[in-house]
Amino acid sequence: MSLSLPQIVPATPEWIAEAGRRLAAGELVAFPTETVYGLGGDATNDKAVAAIFAAKQRPSFNPLISHLPDLDSAAPLVELDERARRLAAAFWPGPLTMVLPRRRESAASLLASAGLDSIAVRVPGHPVAQALLRAAGRPIAAPSANRSGEVSPTTARHVAQSLGANVSLILDGGPCRVGIESTVIDLTGPQAALLRPGGIAREEIEALLGPLLTAAENPDAPKSPGQLLSHYAPHLPVRLNAAEPAPGEALLAFGPAQGTLNLSPGGDLAEAAANLFAMLRRLDRPDFTGIAVMPIPNHGLGLGINDRLKRAAAPRA
Ligand code: TXA
Ligand code: MG
Repeated sequence: MSLSLPQIVPATPEWIAEAGRRLAAGELVAFPTETVYGLGGDATNDKAVAAIFAAKQRPSFNPLISHLPDLDSAAPLVELDERARRLAAAFWPGPLTMVLPRRRESAASLLASAGLDSIAVRVPGHPVAQALLRAAGRPIAAPSANRSGEVSPTTARHVAQSLGANVSLILDGGPCRVGIESTVIDLTGPQAALLRPGGIAREEIEALLGPLLTAAENPDAPKSPGQLLSHYAPHLPVRLNAAEPAPGEALLAFGPAQGTLNLSPGGDLAEAAANLFAMLRRLDRPDFTGIAVMPIPNHGLGLGINDRLKRAAAPRA
């Protein structure tokens, strides 16, 4: 591992302004959000969007989220219905992404939405992301700033390790508070559907919109192709619902238990989500034979945590 990671810069107003200029010029910039670090590019610039896919080595059929500083700036891209406005009022800025019908006059690159007639939009809450989006003055396409299939980055250093030379600048805003990606809700059909569990609990959204379909119950909806089965994967094999480690395995504990690392000794799901990706990375070392993970309750943020763990444990492609 390289000791000097020169492209990491502190998220000062000067560097944020510089990052905004680079985005406007079509370059890629990594930046912190409250969920994970994003690899940003101008969502209206086909070349910038293509560079994102290339840097991540991401299958180009997988659409990207357009990031905006507020609801008003999303309005020219997508059709906002009453449900979208209610969710935005409750959860934006914050870890919620909405998939909405693309407006005919939308400036977003078709490549960003992978040719679908919908666009995913999100207004992140992190102050650095907010300042950067305002500086850039355009929608910013930003997947998690890691190679496709790898564990998502929750620090600037993770980004440098995963993408290194492929990014012109990494704004360092410290570790991400939420730690798992945004919840993705599909509002293109008559009934709202949960495409990806994440930083806002399903229960909180259902309290506003009523029961959500899950992707499996919603065959008409465009698939969320990011939901490839093997994803978020460390190099070591991952074993779920472990009571204790087998010889050689690291134990990722949850609750009052002795593990190699513990996601949350007090059993707090928000703390566990914030620690998840960083701890998987720390345990992903050749002196272990695998990573055993204790059971995580499947409610609240636990739904998103278990989704990521299931993919980390899935057979590799
Ligand atoms: O928290 C997050 O959402 C982070 C930060 C950087 O904002 N971003 C992120 O982006 O996780 P990404 O590209 O890793 O995941 C985007 C997800 C994928 O599952 C993708 O398939 C889905 O959103 N998605 C994007 N546009 C879509 C669309 N038009 N229809 C259906 N799913 C879409
Ligand atoms: Mg990702």
